[in-house]
Amino acid sequence: MTRKTVRIAMNGVTGRMGYRQHLVRSLLAIREQGGLDLGDGTVLWPEPVLVGRRDHALKALAERHGLDHWSTDVDAVLADDSIDIYFDAQVTAAREEAIKKAIAAGKHIYTEKPTATGLAGALELARLADAAGVKHGVVQDKIFLPGLLKLKRLIDGGFFGKILSVRGEFGYWVFEGDWQSAQRPSWNYRAEDGGGIVVDMFPHWEYVLHELFGAVRTVQAHVTTHIPTRWDEHGKPYDATADDAAYGIFQLEGGAVAQINSSWAVRVNRDELVEFQVDGTEGSAVAGLRRCRAQHRSATPKPVWNPDIPLTESFRDQWQEVPDNEEFDNGFKAQWELFLRHVALDAPWHWDLLAGARGVQLAELGLKSSAEGRRLDVPELSL
Ligand SMILES: NC(=O)c1ccc[n+]([C@@H]2O[C@H](COP(=O)([O-])OP(=O)(O)OC[C@H]3O[C@@H](n4cnc5c(N)ncnc54)[C@H](O)[C@@H]3O)[C@@H](O)[C@H]2O)c1
Repeated sequence: MTRKTVRIAMNGVTGRMGYRQHLVRSLLAIREQGGLDLGDGTVLWPEPVLVGRRDHALKALAERHGLDHWSTDVDAVLADDSIDIYFDAQVTAAREEAIKKAIAAGKHIYTEKPTATGLAGALELARLADAAGVKHGVVQDKIFLPGLLKLKRLIDGGFFGKILSVRGEFGYWVFEGDWQSAQRPSWNYRAEDGGGIVVDMFPHWEYVLHELFGAVRTVQAHVTTHIPTRWDEHGKPYDATADDAAYGIFQLEGGAVAQINSSWAVRVNRDELVEFQVDGTEGSAVAGLRRCRAQHRSATPKPVWNPDIPLTESFRDQWQEVPDNEEFDNGFKAQWELFLRHVALDAPWHWDLLAGARGVQLAELGLKSSAEGRRLDVPELSL
């Protein structure tokens, strides 16, 4: 086996996503398994170069994980010819400019979503990357979740017949930060810093719906800020200028309708933090992050509406667990491996910056739909 090193500049690696999911659970996990076997006698060895604003924080991370390279000088890292890939998990508002610089430096690009704060910027990134001839990818982790992979298996196996509707419920209570600290960074609740649940979650819903059920053709959303004041990381109150809940209806190519509630101001009475119920003519399923349960038409009960008598059956118990039948890897790692293969071998890949722009487009149109109080078409994007 020949070992080939791929050097990856990781910007925003001290953040929640950058550290846990991308460094530890993805790139370091690939190193722990001995690298990525390309199947042609080569093993790809990811070499992270930690990039950020605080030297001491980067140094501490590097030391904790036995890494040799970190820098607070993004420009110097981008000027280094030995760096192959630029990865961005910074706060959303800082992303566009950094990716532009990385494209200009000829690096392949892999980035968290949303790729930019507006559609024009997101499309420009896609155009620039294509023009520069670099490879590019956007994190679309949800479709690699065990629950959604099992749901996809049901779809591919024809379980549903004609899919009629998708009902998504996402969210949990994010503490305000006064009497208990908030479990998400405060910039998420400030529009001026790139925050907001629509900008955060609609990009996910776009690719989940698109990949599993059909492209989104229209959007109608009601977006609101339920909690107007929150407390930041230093215990200081601030105005929550960004939306913290969005109630969206999406019409999909092929005729299905999806309705997804997203909220950071809801208490969980579900089995998982996100769940999708899919109803089809032949059967239905409920998929979460890890589990998926199904009910075939032949096993569908026939409830009769009568509030005068107590229920005699437990509807939830009538669903059948869809078995794993395989081992599921971490979704972020699975997508990193596909991207690295794409870079090294030109393996097929379609989660690119144009796909990322579709997510930004849906968020932008969702906000517009809510502001104008009407349903909007979602035009197909091209470069
Ligand atoms: N794929 C997913 O499921 C998922 C989930 C959460 C967040 N995200 C995305 O990942 C990105 C990072 O989110 P996070 O929750 O890890 O955020 P975070 O606040 O925990 O981390 C942000 C990172 O950006 C850096 N940074 C750079 N410029 C900054 C600035 N001006 N102000 C503050 N921090 C700055 C921070 O040092 C830190 O390393 C966001 O774009 C977000 O949309 C994706």
